Amino acid sequence: MSRDGQAQPGQERLEALLASMTLEEKAGQLIQYFYFPDFALQTTFVEEEIRAGRVGSLLFVADPALTNRLQRLAVEESRLGIPLLFGFDVIHGLRTIFPVPLGLAASWDPQLVERVQAVAAREARAVGIHWAFAPMVDIARDPRWGRIVEGAGEDPYLGARLAAAHVRGFQGEGIDTGEHIAAGPKHFVGYGAALGGRDYDEVNLSESELRNLYLPPFAAAVEAGAENIMSSYVGINGVPAAADRRLLTEVLRRELGFRGFIVSDANAVLDLTTHGLTRDEREAARRALEAGLDMEMALGVQFLGESGPAARPAAFATLPEAVRAGVIDERLLDEAVRRVLALKFRLGLFERPYVDEDRASTILNAPAHREQARVAAERSAVLLRNTGILPLDRTRLRRLAVLGPLASDKRATLGPWVFVPDLEGTVTVLDGLRQVAGSALQVDYAPGVPMPTRPIPSPFAALDQLVPGASTMASPAFDEQAEFERAVALARSADVAVLVLGEAADMSGEAASRSTLDLPGRQQELLEAVAATGTPIVLVLLCGRPLDLRRVVERTAAILVAWHPGSEGGNAVARLLFGEVAPGGKLPVSWPRSVGQVPLIYAHLRSHQPQTSGLRYWEEESTPLYPFGFGLSYGEVEYSDLQLSAPLIGLHDTLEVSVVLHNRSERPVEEVAQLYLHQRYGRAARPVRELKAFERVSLAPGERRTLRFVLGAEARRYWSAAAGAYVLDESVFDLWVGGSSQASLHAEFAVQAQKDGSGALS
Ligand code: NOJ
Repeated sequence: MSRDGQAQPGQERLEALLASMTLEEKAGQLIQYFYFPDFALQTTFVEEEIRAGRVGSLLFVADPALTNRLQRLAVEESRLGIPLLFGFDVIHGLRTIFPVPLGLAASWDPQLVERVQAVAAREARAVGIHWAFAPMVDIARDPRWGRIVEGAGEDPYLGARLAAAHVRGFQGEGIDTGEHIAAGPKHFVGYGAALGGRDYDEVNLSESELRNLYLPPFAAAVEAGAENIMSSYVGINGVPAAADRRLLTEVLRRELGFRGFIVSDANAVLDLTTHGLTRDEREAARRALEAGLDMEMALGVQFLGESGPAARPAAFATLPEAVRAGVIDERLLDEAVRRVLALKFRLGLFERPYVDEDRASTILNAPAHREQARVAAERSAVLLRNTGILPLDRTRLRRLAVLGPLASDKRATLGPWVFVPDLEGTVTVLDGLRQVAGSALQVDYAPGVPMPTRPIPSPFAALDQLVPGASTMASPAFDEQAEFERAVALARSADVAVLVLGEAADMSGEAASRSTLDLPGRQQELLEAVAATGTPIVLVLLCGRPLDLRRVVERTAAILVAWHPGSEGGNAVARLLFGEVAPGGKLPVSWPRSVGQVPLIYAHLRSHQPQTSGLRYWEEESTPLYPFGFGLSYGEVEYSDLQLSAPLIGLHDTLEVSVVLHNRSERPVEEVAQLYLHQRYGRAARPVRELKAFERVSLAPGERRTLRFVLGAEARRYWSAAAGAYVLDESVFDLWVGGSSQASLHAEFAVQAQKDGSGALS
């Protein structure tokens, strides 16, 4: 069957192939192994399994010569010659690296996200990768969680719009073109709610949270046609996701209508036993398959054990025996195999299993891709503060001191989830400023302080060693005292100090949660010493999460959050600072004052004593330092003339909203107009505000523009715990439009059931 249930031309071929497969070959299609090129024990096992037809997919191979060689093993040496499916973590680019996903989300620009992932897909497909384990569409409301960097932040509406854009970008108009790949939104579902922001910790979610917050991005990704979904390592309320039939089959397949195949996260089927759900791997395999999981991602090796590492087959390798013993119905196995084979057919792998290695290198180095990376980094940056120093005026500056350990750190410029980087071609902030400043402006550099190394080793430390290009981490040769003084001296003699501070690449991503949001190491000290010189500070933050800026803000003249901006990050930052392009990113997360406030969200409920909702702590306000949706440009936009198509509408009616934006400045301005709703009463209390529409616009100096938003009934639909269902309520609604979640331009409208003749609430 095709994705829409129609019989397709390849269908007969698929069925004939299925009929010719042994149980081992069927189970093999449902097994995906890692392939660690430098680990002979593991690769020998995996290659043997490929030849035997007991592997359907591999991950972690990105070298076209190697994908071709391994593909040949499957196509030419296995009995049926079924091609392998290669998956990879193409998170924010393959060779050309774009801003981290949280940064891309700060662009509030779905078209940009689509273009970016189309480039990533092109590079990936060229080297033989068919499927991205992306986008991560987990809502993340706790910045301690390292994986907040991989998603779109705290909001389900922004998350849903961008989830669909990522999927469209990866998959394009069709995945058989050789330019696109399958998207694999992950991690189904609720992973972002890990207790304490600690990666892999348990998740407990109410049905309202699940349905109102965590599911919408997945629903949008499914609607956009995502070919695959990855289930989460963890589960909800004590049931690990890989074996949760209600979530995988009833919610994902039946309710959301997902028709692709579901893969587990790494070793998550074997881990059903580790987590204490199943007795052994046989039971784990059966319960996962019965829950609706189609493919098991497995390491293929076991590291622990008295005799050292050993090859370890996936749990799904026990499926043939279970079918023979009558424990599992073969039809269940067949269903899963069909889904996997169907994707291989749709990708055109049976016709074109190999890639052209020469073409791959041309594509990986395409100048147009670099251009796209620069634009993406420019549009992702968020200007949090500007006392008027920006844009920098070249004609009035003589000396610029570029300071801070991250100014020349290529890995921090790229960020986490980068495995095939072009480190040489990565433009740091220092490189970018040197290029853009022009010869009349002297640019001096000192790192000032080293970045601290991770005190508790990452479980991926061994993997990182396979990736070249360590950063400016503390090296024994680094004379801390002398470097600190040199940096301060440079600041003293400069007109402006550009401080590039923040987080190293390994401070976010998987297994990289933090217990504080402080600037790591001695960076705060450096900032204070530079501030004491009186030289104005422009702070550029490279980071994967909001940081604690309470002791920072007042010491700076401007703050630009560049996130981990990617291959062209330095050029983008330099062009923004010199005003060659206007900043326009907006925060996709509330920016807390301190770690003690988290989780802190803008869409909270109105509760007892709402007038004190910003005063709930003894020491400091319980409001964010910068609100969700906030970001400055180099000019001011005024909002006016907010108009609604009707003051009273029916339950199922659409409301049209128009508003006028006016760029009152003499510079071009980038703005993201945001529309928020609040339902005053109904079958559940609703958040004080919820984002329901937005549009990013460029406005010429003095330009006025009318924007129109159409709000369908789905903008008011939510899951009510009281009703145990999705509902539309009769109510009065507040509506705001403006440049952040604190927008003040307000209107209201009412919703009545009789108005549209439906009479009943639904
Ligand atoms: C584990 C991560 O949770 C997942 O996001 C990733 O795609 C897989 N490993 C493969 O690297």
